[in-house]
Amino acid sequence: MPFVIAEFGCATGAASVLPLKTIISAVRKFSPEMPIQVFLNDLPENHHSLAIASVTEGLSHLFEEVYIMVAGKDFTQQVFPAGTVDIAFSNMTLMILPLPPSPRTDNIFFLATPEKLNSDQGVEWVKGFNKHWTAFVTNRQRELRENG
Ligand SMILES: C[S@@+](CC[C@H](N)C(=O)[O-])C[C@H]1O[C@@H](n2cnc3c(N)ncnc32)[C@H](O)[C@@H]1O
Repeated sequence: MPFVIAEFGCATGAASVLPLKTIISAVRKFSPEMPIQVFLNDLPENHHSLAIASVTEGLSHLFEEVYIMVAGKDFTQQVFPAGTVDIAFSNMTLMILPLPPSPRTDNIFFLATPEKLNSDQGVEWVKGFNKHWTAFVTNRQRELRENG
């Protein structure tokens, strides 16, 4: 059985190589030959070929037995079968909500200043973020292998 690494929200893969090198080096210390499967997740419309190319280029000359794959699915749902992922990570992605919890008036972002957080709009955004975070963590809990 391979050791499975999943990244959520990989985009072009430019920021994927460094964390993957760190994880794979650590795995190689306790298991020098174990096959390692890397799943790069992003939305289906992402240019996954760029992610595959940059991660393959960044890792291939360093490690043997590493298999790089794509998982094109919205991570607010379960992406992997239950109990199949050993370690998961995400960079600069979880602050992106699938839908705005209330209309945006002055920016494409919700700026969480203390003043705005106390407004009706702020309360809606915090509620929306908590819902998003809970869904993300619940789905990852299902996917992660116990003792992985
Ligand atoms: C700001 S970019 C960060 C990219 C990369 N991780 C980095 O650190 O440079 C956020 C990425 O998350 C992806 N993303 C946002 N919401 C997502 C979702 N619900 N499911 C899958 N991918 C998502 C976007 O498509 C985008 O590629």
